[in-house]
This record gives sequence, C-alpha cells and structure tokens, in this order.
Amino acid sequence: MCGIVGYIGRRQAYPVLIKGLKRLEYRGYDSAGVALITETKGLEVYKTKGKVADLEAYVEDKDVTGTVGIAHTRWATHGEPNATNAHPHISCSGNLALIHNGIIENYTVLKEALQRHGVAFKSSTDTEVLVQLIDYIQQHLKTDLLTAVRLALRQVIGAYAIAILDRNEPNQIIAARKSSPLVVGIGDDEFFLGSDASPIIEYTDKVVYLDDNDIAVLRRGAKEAEFVNFDNEKIEHDVKTVDLDLGQIEKGGYPHFMLKEIFEQPKSLRDCMRGRVNVEANNVVLSAVIDYRKELINARRYIIVACGTSWHASLIGKQLLESICQIPVEVEYASEFRYSNPVIDSRDVVIAISQSGETADTLAAIQLAKERGAFIFGICNAIGSSIPRATNTGCYIHVGPEIGVASTKAFTGQVTVLTMLALALGKARGTINNTDYVNLVRELDSIPQKMEKVLEQNDHVRDISRVFTYARNFLYLGRGYNYPVALEGALKLKEISYIHAEGYPAAEMKHGPIALIDDEMPVVVVATQNPLYDKLMSNIQEIKARNGRVIAIVTEGDEKVKALADEFVELPQTIECLEPLLSTIPLQLLAYHIAVQKGKNVDQPRNLAKSVTVE
Ligand code: AGP
Ligand code: GLU
Repeated sequence: MCGIVGYIGRRQAYPVLIKGLKRLEYRGYDSAGVALITETKGLEVYKTKGKVADLEAYVEDKDVTGTVGIAHTRWATHGEPNATNAHPHISCSGNLALIHNGIIENYTVLKEALQRHGVAFKSSTDTEVLVQLIDYIQQHLKTDLLTAVRLALRQVIGAYAIAILDRNEPNQIIAARKSSPLVVGIGDDEFFLGSDASPIIEYTDKVVYLDDNDIAVLRRGAKEAEFVNFDNEKIEHDVKTVDLDLGQIEKGGYPHFMLKEIFEQPKSLRDCMRGRVNVEANNVVLSAVIDYRKELINARRYIIVACGTSWHASLIGKQLLESICQIPVEVEYASEFRYSNPVIDSRDVVIAISQSGETADTLAAIQLAKERGAFIFGICNAIGSSIPRATNTGCYIHVGPEIGVASTKAFTGQVTVLTMLALALGKARGTINNTDYVNLVRELDSIPQKMEKVLEQNDHVRDISRVFTYARNFLYLGRGYNYPVALEGALKLKEISYIHAEGYPAAEMKHGPIALIDDEMPVVVVATQNPLYDKLMSNIQEIKARNGRVIAIVTEGDEKVKALADEFVELPQTIECLEPLLSTIPLQLLAYHIAVQKGKNVDQPRNLAKSVTVE
C-alpha cells in the first residue's frame, strides 16, 4: 500500500506534493520520492529511503522548481526499502518517470522479455517493469505517451494506480488505475492526483474517482480532465463534490484507524493471498517453501516464538501445522524463550511471528535460536524491518501498514500465512490428501467474501456492546482453533477498554473460572458448528445455570445456541481450521465499540506502543 500524489497547473508543484505525501503517509513510509519537470533541468527525480521528512531533508539543496510533478510514499511489496527501489522509477531512455501503488503479478515474465530485448533494470521492484515497458513501446513504435500506456497496460496483470511524466511531453500527467485507488482533483486551470482525496481537498472539492481500466490525461491549460479506456474510447465521469474534513479522510472516512483496519480485512487478506493462493490451479505457492524445501520439510520440530497478538496467531499455527503437516510444534512467548535454556539445534525450525518486525523480545529469541543452529523463518508485516533481516527466509503478510495499536488485520494476515504455510508444507511432505488440500485452498480463497458478511453485522455488534459497556470483567471461551481466538478477544478488550478480561479453553471453565460466574459476568463463547459443538453447548448450559450472560458467536442458522444465548452474532459456515479468520472479527468489533462508548483513546491506548523495541 503506497501513497500517490500528482499536480499540474499554475502553482509550484513541490510544496503541494510534499504536503500531499504527508497526508498519505499512513499508507506507507519506508521510502519516498518525487519527480518534477523543473525549470532548469527538465525531468528530475529525487528519492530516498525513509519517511517524507527524510525526502524533504534530501532535496533541501536541489532544484525543485516547476509546476508539474508526481510523488510517492512507499510500502514495499517487492524489493527491500532503499533509495533504488523507491519510486518514481525512471525508464532506460531517461524520458519517463512513473509511480505505482499495487502489485504487478506477471512482472517476472514481462521483465524477462524486456531483458531479452536489452532493457537493463536498476531496481528489484515489480513496478519498474511498467516504466520500462511503456518506454520500450514508445521507442519502438514511435508513439506518444498515451498510446504507449494503453498498449502496455493491456499486457499487465495485477493491481495498479500509476502516474507518469514524460520529459518530451512536459505539459501533461497520465494516470491509470486497476484495483488500487486513484482520485483526480479538478481545480481552476489545475489538476491534482491522490490515492485518496486527502492531498486534494484543501485546493478543490471537485473530484473524479477513477474506475478500473480508466486512463486519465491531465493536460496543462485544458478545461477538463480527459478519461479514456485501453481502446482510446472516451469515458464520461461525473465530477463529485467531496464533503469530508481532513481528519476523517486520513482515516479513510473511519473515526479510528482500528475500525478502518478491522474493515480492511477482506481486502488485506486478498492482498496477503495474491500470487500465492491460486484456485484455478488448486495450488498454494510460497517462494520460501520452494527455496528452502529441504530445511523446512525435514525439520524434526517447529518452535514458534512471538508476543501478544502474534503469539495468539502462533497457537493457531501450531494446530494447523500439526494437523496438516504432522510436524510437532511448540509455541513459546519470545520473552520467556530468550531467558530459558531451550533444547534446540540444527534439526529445528524456529518461526518468528511479528507485525512490526521490531519486537525486541522476538529478535532476542531469534538470536538465541540462531546461536544454537536452528533454521529461522519469519512471518512479518513491516517490510525490511529488523526481524525479516535476521531470519533465513520467511513470508510477509502484506496486509498494509497497521496504525491502530491494537492489532487486528495483522492477526488475520498471520493466520492466513500460517494456513498457506501448512498447506504448502503438507503437500510437500505428503501429509494431506488431495481432496482436503483442494477443499482448503478453495475455502481459504472464499474467506474474504465471508468476512464481508461478518462485517455487515457491525451495527448489531455495536448494539450488543451498549448492553455490556459497564461490565467490570469479561470471560472469553473457545475450544480447538477458537481457543486462541478467545485469548485474542480478551486481549483486545483489555488493551483498549481497560476492562479485565480472561480467555479460557471452554472445558477448563469447570476447573476454576466457573466460580466467577454470576449475573454480572458477560461470557463470550465462540460456539460454532464443528466437532466440539456438543461439548460447547454443555458449557453454555453450565454458564446459564449460574445466571451468566452469554454472547455467543454461532454458525449461521444455528437456532439451538441462539435460543440459549442472551446475544449472538452469526458467522458463515466454513472449514473448522479456518474459523478463526471469521470468529475473530466480532470480538474485534465488540472490543472496539465498548472502548468507544467508554470514551477511550482506541488508537493509542494508554501505556502501549505499536512496536515494542524494549525488553
Ligand atoms: C496487540 O494488539 C498488541 N498491541 C501487542 O500484543 C502486539 O501483538 C505485540 O506487542 C507483538 O508485536 P509484534 O507483532 O509487532 O511483534
Ligand atoms: N509493488 C510496488 C513496490 O513494491 C508498490 C508497492 C505498493 O503499492 O504496496 O514498490
């Protein structure tokens, strides 16, 4: 997820672009860059690793004059975050500069073809293939920029929002979109571009939201922006009026980053699975499993180390890996593991899971495991952070920057990567039969759609939360794959609403916690229809017999639990091991709404930080 800004008109472009990038920095901040057609030198590109502030410092003594430009703040998907991989990318001829948000899925094929024709690539991004392809077409067919862009995009598979400058056509910006957002702002004799409207709204409230396969041509002096499709047919767009204040837009219209991130989950899981889960081929491909097949499939044991929410994802990972791959798995708190004297050697694989990739305890656990010779596999979100750099290999979860301190979409991203890992390893080890494998691949692919159905119940969860806002304690119960979900639900509530909450495996209740139950104790029970369903029904009866208040998470149409529970939220049916991806969502929403009603600072809860880089 990156931020894109563009400007052409009568103002100096650079200040508009920098301000816009700052508004979009929530979308990514590992490197930033700007391309301008300057008054003295023509096309100039400045880019650097780091945040927008680093870019500002970098260009301090440079020529940034000019009234047309494009700029980008990156959240790397392909290629480590450094100045070379930062956008804008320049074509071989030096004529074109391009910025991109998204992923070009067939970039390897296109890159190899261009290389065969002598095109030299500078970066390791997927993006560079776009600028080189457009340039190649322009040079060989002697066409204008628009024609070259149209012809190039016909060959591209993937997601993109792009903007391009051509030093030979200095009075225009060409932009296009497919699956990644792009907004054109229309002012008086000036045009703006943004990944969302936030860089635009202080100059104009007139915008056009591009549709998939639209190309926008923004020409200096033109009264209107032109829109065409890949066949050069004109497209009419209604100009919309944006009615949003800046604060809202930066959170994409959501009151808090946490809610935005909860709602992003269908999309973030699609991003996480893109290029990895292929339903047509009935396959899951993880490059790490291909590259390190021997180390991964022959391990005698896996040890997962993580903290907090990532530790909860690890508990689900253990069940997935043990049942699908028949490999013994241990899960350790990284903070405990690092000070223990673990029996571990080169026959073991250690999986380190971390959203931020910077958690000090997890890094120290990796260090210890490395010293003892284990093979280290990382599962992280923040590209280029310390943990991925310290591991032998791994998988990014690719869910985009998570800003809310309470982790939500990173959790479901981690569980999705663990599921893909179990499937890829299970197949390689021959421990999963083909029917189960195919069913799981298909069902995993349909999870984002099912998540959308769960999210439709947001208002219902908010209504439930009103009843329980003033509870002083909460219990969360679940079994099997939903036991870690219960732990995660309790953690979410503690973190942002400061209500005491505990998660338990449901059957453990009778061994102690049942003593806590009275008519003031809300008990959240994940009671979906899976092999443990009947046992869970008995647990609910036990709570009701003691006047506890049950909020049940049930499978759609389950009248039995609905009749017993005080409140319920329904989930679409899915395969048992994928249930956490759905059952977590109502618990995230419940914690969120309770915290909001209590007037707490949801995005920055007291005493917490997004990345815990201290012991
Ligand atoms: C989750 O909501 C927390 N804020 C916290 O438990 C977090 O999961 C933990 O600190 C681990 O962080 P990491 O995934 O970035 O390593
Ligand atoms: N795939 C591009 C890169 O890695 C763009 C990243 C994105 O939009 O997330 O540079």
